[in-house]
Amino acid sequence: MDESIKEEIEAANKKLENADAKEVLIWAIDRFSPKIGIASSFGAEDVVLMDLALKARPDVKVFTLDTGRLHEDTYSVMEEVRKKYGKELVVYSPDTKALQELSEQKGFFSFKESVDNRRECCVIRKVEPLKRALSVLDAWVTGLRRAQSTTRVGLPKVEWDEGNGLVKLNPLADWSEEEIWAYIKENDIPYNKLHDKGFPSIGCEPCTRAIESGENVRAGRWWWESPDTKECGLHPGRKQC
Ligand code: ADX
Ligand code: SF4
Repeated sequence: MDESIKEEIEAANKKLENADAKEVLIWAIDRFSPKIGIASSFGAEDVVLMDLALKARPDVKVFTLDTGRLHEDTYSVMEEVRKKYGKELVVYSPDTKALQELSEQKGFFSFKESVDNRRECCVIRKVEPLKRALSVLDAWVTGLRRAQSTTRVGLPKVEWDEGNGLVKLNPLADWSEEEIWAYIKENDIPYNKLHDKGFPSIGCEPCTRAIESGENVRAGRWWWESPDTKECGLHPGRKQC
């Protein structure tokens, strides 16, 4: 990372730590536009992020990684959002050749067979498409929150994403789950209906289940694996991403 970016990030972090999410978004979009993108999985945090950003700066790019194995309810909320905001979403799909080879050589549920196979599937369906998405950007915005897991506790609002070589913004870092839901209800924004069925955290359909009361909010992600291998690769450096 060059020294001037490092200094700018440090200064921005200080300035924005106590700013609200909208101010962080506006600062970031005005600073990096058009080479900035909001990464949306259409979970509760991401629909809030999109609503805040699109009301302030309607032209901002929103991209999603369509793994091909998402829940039907996830495609439904994507469609609702497209229509509500009249927004063209930028969709990154897995590389066709890599996907065909994976299915031909290992079948359709290889991710259940071993941690290595699960990571291979995440690389093909999520990580490589994310790299493609980020290759044309100088900054990206996520819906990560500090309260989501112990590994996200120290999350800054503005950081240098070392693995991908660009600036990463987490404007909702200090929001609680209650604040997310209050915003969704007050603003009547579309959300993934799986959230009403016991899914606080939503990924691909075969790799996400509902949780029982008292379980960690991310307990339904790759539930057959031990917590220390639950790393999908989208947010390296943060275990159990
Ligand atoms: S994950 O790494 O375990 O899948 P999580 O579901 O908590 O991450 O989402 C954290 C953030 O990563 C989201 O708020 C969003 O910014 C980004 N993200 C996750 N999945 C996707 C996706 N399919 N497409 C675009 N962004 C995503
Ligand atoms: Fe594959 Fe599951 Fe990872 Fe989705 S979450 S990319 S289906 S291993």
